[in-house]
Amino acid sequence: MKLLALPVGLAALSGLTAAHSRAEAEHTQEPFVGWTQEDLDAKWGTDWGFTGISTFAHLPHARCLQYPEIEYDIGILGAPFDTAVSYRPGARFGPRAIRAASARQTGFRGYNPRAALNPYNEWATIIDCGDIPITPFDNGLALRQMTEAFTNLAHSTAPRENAESSISYRRKPKLLTLGGDHSIALPTLRALNKAYGNVAVVHFDAHLDTWHPAKYPSAWVDPNNPNEQSFFTHGTMFWVAHNESLIMQNKSVHAGLRTRLSGVGDNEDDDAQGWVRIACDDIDDIGVKGVVEKIMTHVGTETPVYLSIDIDVIDPGLAPGTGTPEPGGWTTRELIRVLRGIEGLNIVGADIVEVAPAYDGTGEATALAAAQVGFEVLTSMVKRGMGEGEGKKGSGKVKVRDEL
Ligand SMILES: *[C@@H]1O[C@H](CO)[C@@H](O)[C@H](O)[C@H]1NC(C)=O
Ligand SMILES: *[C@@H]1O[C@H](CO)[C@@H](O)[C@H](O)[C@H]1NC(C)=O
Repeated sequence: MKLLALPVGLAALSGLTAAHSRAEAEHTQEPFVGWTQEDLDAKWGTDWGFTGISTFAHLPHARCLQYPEIEYDIGILGAPFDTAVSYRPGARFGPRAIRAASARQTGFRGYNPRAALNPYNEWATIIDCGDIPITPFDNGLALRQMTEAFTNLAHSTAPRENAESSISYRRKPKLLTLGGDHSIALPTLRALNKAYGNVAVVHFDAHLDTWHPAKYPSAWVDPNNPNEQSFFTHGTMFWVAHNESLIMQNKSVHAGLRTRLSGVGDNEDDDAQGWVRIACDDIDDIGVKGVVEKIMTHVGTETPVYLSIDIDVIDPGLAPGTGTPEPGGWTTRELIRVLRGIEGLNIVGADIVEVAPAYDGTGEATALAAAQVGFEVLTSMVKRGMGEGEGKKGSGKVKVRDEL
């Protein structure tokens, strides 16, 4: 918007000469004398896609964990963690890559025609909260750091507005997490459980991620001790989340599945944990509309949903920059169309995980796909927030009484 203000201002002047003399006058003018913040914003406040410090979509950056008084409705938070992977590491560089690939998303050209809105200029204050500084040396500590970080942000009591007030604010901003490997979904689900109770998971992935930790080649693991650190991996976090009773029963869906299994028992375990499965192949048989309908019918529009998107749901020919690639996946277009179709879900949190840029091409195809997915998720969050009383501006802020 602000970039447009300057040319519009010039056009209003009568002809080139006037514009020219104004430009000259501005040159000779004492710098900043008489300039309002608005003038400065109009002149210098907007980036091109290729300029500026890399935040998601050039959004303002604030270290939300360090400065909890900051108010926002939707926060983008990086979780650069990749020491719980079973194959290629590298997703710790995912948040950086996704931010860089989001560079052509801006408030002045962010209108999403499918939803008839620009998520960056709507009611929601969206900011880039930066990254959680997660240790790469100790997964037990890393899980604790992430659990605290997500919980603090998803369910925090803000400072009183003034000393006499008996009202404080419990804020429930929505978080879009940029992974990181998929294990980061466990601490996010713990945090959402504190804020909303159990939530359903709508999970896009080539893999189930509900595996029991002892289903990996690990004779050293005690299968009866869910507190073993080796239980926390990017293929087991939904098993652990189920074990911790964080997931709503019989409301969660996987979509895009196509990996090899250890046997049909994997699906039976998945059934026992209350999931519905939509295979990658289903999109050929029932189409995008069929996939959308299946998800919406099963989950509904009221159930609080954690939307978890593993970029490996896309075919590795189109999104090679990922840790556990599985040939024969959906196209980027198919994934995006499905995401557009499920905009009616009540998304209370979301992630985009497993972008590992070291395996991406020079054209950043994987990171670009992830950035576009982020745009679609933000659009849906903002659109949904406009429909109801809940979710309007300031809804990140819920007034509560003293007893909190
Ligand atoms: C959690 O896992 C342990 C060990 O496998 C098991 O004994 C326990 O029953 C599980 N709890 C739930 C709620 O699934
Ligand atoms: C789970 O959901 C499916 C599909 O909505 C339904 O057919 C089934 O009866 C449900 N199972 C349980 C145990 O609630």
